[in-house]
Amino acid sequence: MRRAAGRRARRGRPRAERLEPEPSRVGSILATDPRALAAIVRAVRARVRAPLWVKLSPNVGDITRVGRAAEAEGADALTAINTLRATAVDVATRRARLASGTGGLSGPAIKPVALRMVHELARAVRIPLVGVGAS
Ligand SMILES: Cc1cc2nc3c(=O)[nH]c(=O)nc-3n(C[C@H](O)[C@H](O)[C@H](O)COP(=O)(O)O)c2cc1C
Repeated sequence: MRRAAGRRARRGRPRAERLEPEPSRVGSILATDPRALAAIVRAVRARVRAPLWVKLSPNVGDITRVGRAAEAEGADALTAINTLRATAVDVATRRARLASGTGGLSGPAIKPVALRMVHELARAVRIPLVGVGAS
């Protein structure tokens, strides 16, 4: 439901270090506010009969709040997790490596976070979970 990162990582770079610039933060705001997410899921649920899987952002204090909100509005399954907001600094220039300052971190580095959040969601909702991350 959101665009977490910009262009695809350049080939050959270690996957744990992928850090993509975010073109817009609007999507991340919608994905981290349980009420905003609930409103979107409600609107989509009213129009779509196909299975509705809601992709969750990990950039929240408590992922069960957004998970429960999506479930309450009729999501058929939850997908977790999207990328983690992060930054990278070039120590030589002392500048951020990304023009936008922050980006979405993915790959093996996020596996412990993904596992923790899937575990928390499994205890909080009844709908199926689709684990994503760390590939
Ligand atoms: C370049 C790039 C673009 C992505 N674009 C999207 C996207 O458009 N929508 C989305 O929900 N997630 C997007 N993601 C997040 C991935 O689907 C996935 O949730 C995240 O990268 C964690 O999985 P991984 O560690 O296996 O890459 C993107 C990730 C990357 C690296």
